[in-house]
Amino acid sequence: MKITSDYLVVGSGIAGLCYALKVADHGQVSLVTKREVATTATSLAQGGIAAVAAVSDSFEQHINDTMEAGAWLPDEEIVRIVVENGPSAITDLIDWGVNFSRKEDQTYDLTREGGHSQRRIYHSKDETGKEIERALVEAVKAHPNITVYENHVAVDLITEAKVTRRRMKPDRCLGVYVLNRETGQVSTFGAPITVLATGGAGKVYLYTCNPDIATGDGIAMAYRAGATIANMEFMQFHPTTLYHPHAKSFLVSEAVRGEGAILRRSDGTAFMESYHPLKDLAPRDIVARAIDHEMKMHGDDCVFLDITHKEADYIRERFPHIYETCLGYGIDMTVAPIPVVPAAHYLCGGITVDDWGETDIKNLFAIGEVSCTGLHGANRLASNSLLEGVVFAKRAAERALSMAPRSIPPCPPIESWDPGHAKNSDEEVVVAHNWDEIRLCMWNYVGIVRSDKRLIRALRRVQMIQEEIADYYWDFLITSDLIELRNIATVAELIIRCALKRKESRGLHYNIDYLEKDDIHYKQDTLIRKTF
Ligand code: SIN
Repeated sequence: MKITSDYLVVGSGIAGLCYALKVADHGQVSLVTKREVATTATSLAQGGIAAVAAVSDSFEQHINDTMEAGAWLPDEEIVRIVVENGPSAITDLIDWGVNFSRKEDQTYDLTREGGHSQRRIYHSKDETGKEIERALVEAVKAHPNITVYENHVAVDLITEAKVTRRRMKPDRCLGVYVLNRETGQVSTFGAPITVLATGGAGKVYLYTCNPDIATGDGIAMAYRAGATIANMEFMQFHPTTLYHPHAKSFLVSEAVRGEGAILRRSDGTAFMESYHPLKDLAPRDIVARAIDHEMKMHGDDCVFLDITHKEADYIRERFPHIYETCLGYGIDMTVAPIPVVPAAHYLCGGITVDDWGETDIKNLFAIGEVSCTGLHGANRLASNSLLEGVVFAKRAAERALSMAPRSIPPCPPIESWDPGHAKNSDEEVVVAHNWDEIRLCMWNYVGIVRSDKRLIRALRRVQMIQEEIADYYWDFLITSDLIELRNIATVAELIIRCALKRKESRGLHYNIDYLEKDDIHYKQDTLIRKTF
């Protein structure tokens, strides 16, 4: 089957939905998404979206906080673009129907999170992402020009080089091969302009607060097609996910610390003041490392997040979702501290893009977590990611509209997906086993604290698994699980290779063989590109 449209979007989080809404008045949009439309990382975002609003705040302060959290690696020009577009991004969201929490006097209730010197985070209680996703999905479903394809998994990018079997620089994107999870059929989605908004890759790690869909598909596909990938060593570990045998890495928002919660050891000692002057509101990389250190030093399985000094009514009103979820596991956070551990949360690296979200493959854009715009540097400032998603969706849409898709030269005929001699697999256990092995290996060897020896060991393991996947991939009919396994293996390899290139410790990349930051040699992005 072949489906053609003016604009093709892969992914239905904040970036993909905003982009679709921005271009939909000008042409037909196909929006492909792996599961149900609202099954996204955006939907799980608790904290909020940062934008300067208070009179005591300023763009300069937000820029400085972003640069500092990012260990001075962010691209200051990009930081300025995103920060200065913050207020209009909030206006767009409100216009699309998003309800942010307000105070009694009806002004917006701005909260704080780690690394922010001011209250500047718009939120919808503690389910900001769910509210944003609700409003955007409603707007998308109401638009006659947008067709949403749920349960459709992108397999690979279709490029001119692939179709014509000639190397070309730069290559041009013509669309995407997509697997329908319900029928098992692979279709060709063709479009003059394709946007990847596929999100992050937390599932590369054993413990993550990301949804199951976060398997780095966009990054893996773009890498295979020849796009440049950057800064994959900077995987952000969220300091506080619920520690409970039955909780599947439930995030406890940093806004809880923003409103006064304190991290304590099991004996009740508060420990953050010995790590950073901002104590519990230090940037996330520092807090996650401090927790890791405390747990290892004292042989504890977790630390505790204590907000019991606040009024119970206030806690229940401000954090209803966290309160109810913890209570469901037998923890009443109004009277008892919450057991927490760090877990993989956000990938700061991704597909490199220019100021408008365009990759180095022509007519291919990447927006949201899948991209590396230069905003986050070595560590993302909390609540900057939803903002980046809206700002870059808008910029990519502006650029795409200026390219007038209907005037782009027609693409050469695209061959349908050829399954070759592939047959149904009778050994699904191979997929499950390799999946678990990669995630455990990444957690143990490429986690919060790294060393060259562990990284080399991890690379060897992942490359062996990749060889096995390659054999398996061409012998058996593809399934969603196999596509995702191939992608997490690719992303794992890219994370390790980037980590091995950076011979220093900066932001989220902490290597015990190089404890210091080295501005002379490494104050630059780590770039990686497939050689053909
Ligand atoms: C949180 O609520 O702690 C997550 C916010 C973010 O990652 O930006």
